[in-house]
Amino acid sequence: MDSIIVKGGKPLSGQIHIAGAKNAALALMPATLLSEEPLTLTNAPRLSDIKTMTELLQSLGAEITSMQDGKVQAMSTHGTINTTADYDIVRKMRASNLVLGPLLAREGHAVVSLPGGCAIGARPMDIHTDGLEKMGASIDLKDGYLHAKAAGGKLKGAVIDFPFASVGATENIMMAATLAKGTTVINNAAREPEIVDLATCLRRMGAQIDGDGTATITIQGVDRLGGATHPVVTDRIELGTYMLAPVIAGGEVECIGGRMDLVAAFAEKLDASGVSVTETANGLKVARKNGRPTAVDVTTEPFPGFPTDLQAQMMAMLCVAEGKSVLEEKIFENRFMHAPELVRMGAEIEVHGGTATVTGVERMKGAPVMATDLRASVSLILAGLAAEGETQVNRVYHLDRGYEHVEDKLGAVGADIKRVPGS
Ligand code: EPU
Repeated sequence: MDSIIVKGGKPLSGQIHIAGAKNAALALMPATLLSEEPLTLTNAPRLSDIKTMTELLQSLGAEITSMQDGKVQAMSTHGTINTTADYDIVRKMRASNLVLGPLLAREGHAVVSLPGGCAIGARPMDIHTDGLEKMGASIDLKDGYLHAKAAGGKLKGAVIDFPFASVGATENIMMAATLAKGTTVINNAAREPEIVDLATCLRRMGAQIDGDGTATITIQGVDRLGGATHPVVTDRIELGTYMLAPVIAGGEVECIGGRMDLVAAFAEKLDASGVSVTETANGLKVARKNGRPTAVDVTTEPFPGFPTDLQAQMMAMLCVAEGKSVLEEKIFENRFMHAPELVRMGAEIEVHGGTATVTGVERMKGAPVMATDLRASVSLILAGLAAEGETQVNRVYHLDRGYEHVEDKLGAVGADIKRVPGS
């Protein structure tokens, strides 16, 4: 497996182009199952997770052509489709569960492997399945697979109250409801920009959806959806990650394609920490206001709160900030696996349950480190940018799931970073 080697201490300067959002693309791609006509995504990110979703959709009968080095994904799902999503592909990526709603809506039945737990937490699917059951589906768990069947072969509209604003459940139910009979209302829906992006794409395909971006989404089912071409929204997590690079390493970076509305809660914390974030004609420019950033407390929340997907990266920054910060992880039960690795690099962190207390140190020290999930890996690279000496991040497999060409992007703004191919 490849590793990334970072030598710290170089201030950064220049521009980084932010890609389309992984988590938007992973929800948009299964939407192809809802229509016999072509769906084309532009501004798609070049990531291994996108390849996994491509493989899954192809196994279900979709034709997918990747163009412009992966930036354009042209998909078409006409004729008969296979309704079984196999464990061998689903286990690689939890977002595979997003084919359940579309398959059930189009074919009236589906068999989808349970994705299982993952490093950051148990991540059950009860909110998805309870919602689909309200829409008239019967769902049984047999041998690790969810066997779902719509009564009378067609889902029907329902009022669904989510106990938690789950991103994936909102996406699955929203897609399922586009072709259901009647009206579906999702209360306590997730409000993430990726939800709005999916709703926008579905509307382009002919769906009738209102309220996306608020806690109540209303979907009026239609008989069929058509084709569309849709640009994937900017990746706010990649954006936030690269915004932290000059805060940690020093210097100034302009994130091209960055939008303040995508990262408002995060930018507020940066401001409180002594970081300047300014809107430019093409994106967001970030630099420290004075010297070292200062401590700030962070609690992760569903959008529009501080995103859990930026918690690890923020922790890397707070490791070198002045003072003591408290980070509370409220979305996943086990998302501090980067903490012991950061400690190996000289950070002072204490973790108690879902709370981590970070006492900033002036300088961390490079070390060989290992990452167990995607956001953890990138936090170690960020930490390496300011550490003394060499940091070797192993198991880059995780990184490539969500960050395209990280070494090229950071290298172009002056970081000393390289990829070492695995044997
Ligand atoms: N949950 C349940 N039951 C469910 C669904 C969720 O208990 O049926 C719980 C989960 O266990 C978790 C919490 O609710 O504790 C949040 O889960 P949610 O369903 O909102 O997350 P998700 O849809 O599985 C997406 C992103 C994650 C991101 C979360 C939260 C995609 C493909 N994934 O996951 O992204 O952390 O929303 O914002 O959109 C990442 O990109 O690194 C990543 C993990």
